Amino acid sequence: MILVTGGTGLVGSHLLYHLCLKNDKIRAIYRTESSLENVKKIFSFYTTDEDLYTKIEWFKADITDVPSMIPAFVNVKQVYHCAAFISFNPKDYRKMRKVNIHGTAIIVNLCIDAKVDKLCFVSSIAAVGDSLNGGLINEENEWNKEQDNSGYSITKFGAEMEVWRASQEGVDVVIVNPGVILGSGFFNVGSGKLFSQVYNGFKYYTEGKTGFVSVQDVVKPMILLMNADVKNERFILVAENKTYKEIFDAIADAFHKKRPSIKIKPWQTAISWRIAWLISKFTGKEPLLSKYSAKSAHSISEYSSEKIVKTLDYKFKPIDISIQKVCINYLN
Ligand SMILES: NC(=O)c1ccc[n+]([C@@H]2O[C@H](COP(=O)([O-])OP(=O)(O)OC[C@H]3O[C@@H](n4cnc5c(N)ncnc54)[C@H](OP(=O)(O)O)[C@@H]3O)[C@@H](O)[C@H]2O)c1
Repeated sequence: MILVTGGTGLVGSHLLYHLCLKNDKIRAIYRTESSLENVKKIFSFYTTDEDLYTKIEWFKADITDVPSMIPAFVNVKQVYHCAAFISFNPKDYRKMRKVNIHGTAIIVNLCIDAKVDKLCFVSSIAAVGDSLNGGLINEENEWNKEQDNSGYSITKFGAEMEVWRASQEGVDVVIVNPGVILGSGFFNVGSGKLFSQVYNGFKYYTEGKTGFVSVQDVVKPMILLMNADVKNERFILVAENKTYKEIFDAIADAFHKKRPSIKIKPWQTAISWRIAWLISKFTGKEPLLSKYSAKSAHSISEYSSEKIVKTLDYKFKPIDISIQKVCINYLN
């Protein structure tokens, strides 16, 4: 039996589709019935075969609630842990610690108890350190706790520490560290907002640069790693390093919309996130921009995926092609 956490999210739902193609015993956890509709929608992007979705055995559970998770681990041999809480709002830090670190510790303990063969954890490039010499960042670049790290980054690093503990206690593990993940189906949240914003005529861009990868190029290596003779390693998953401007332009082109043309300078975002913070204090609403999303909009970080390419002989799809596919699904 294969268990997937976070199966109702971007990575988990696309992963479930690819797992269902080749496996019959798949279990996934969910928290609300409505989120299951999203998963069905993701399957419909790939296939008209409705039987595929019915292969999933759904368990209602929360990763921070041990009693709800115990039944989900019966007869489980492989675990894909994709569940996480992603936020750059400082207000969410405690909740992120609970879901990302404490939740992962619970998954790890249950993996050890159930003697699962292998655990795949979806981490992030946020848990990898910066380049020390200006070169490409790879898996050896250690996360630096002395830096001004976002709460998200701290909790993804903390979660990785829990996963390494599993490896010390007899569970084989693989960790993937994807860049910004682009995929269909979640257009109003997370990285999906890049598509809805450009579609809705967003005019601004920044000159930050980071690693991008399609959701298919995240879930396929995950499955390959779980079935390969590879253990206790982590792998950066980045198809290409691109500026936000390049990504916005590619999305605008795919939608036949105007490219964003107003460049935002670092001092402008520095003022904006402070104003957004003040407004959120008065309104109680989520700030439109946070200190760390403002910072990452301008920072330049480039990543190397050489390790996964060599280990699996893996070929990433060009990002522009992936963007075109996502835009077609968005319009549909
Ligand atoms: N998106 C990106 O660009 C990106 C980039 C790098 C790494 N990652 C990592 O990739 C993984 C998947 O991200 P994603 O983009 O798929 O996120 P997502 O779309 O926000 O999905 C998060 C998933 O986690 C589940 N979840 C959250 N809290 C939970 C809890 N307490 N108990 C059980 N399930 C819970 C959610 O369930 P509900 O549906 O019930 O809310 C949802 O299924 C995360 O570990 C993230 O850190 C993402």
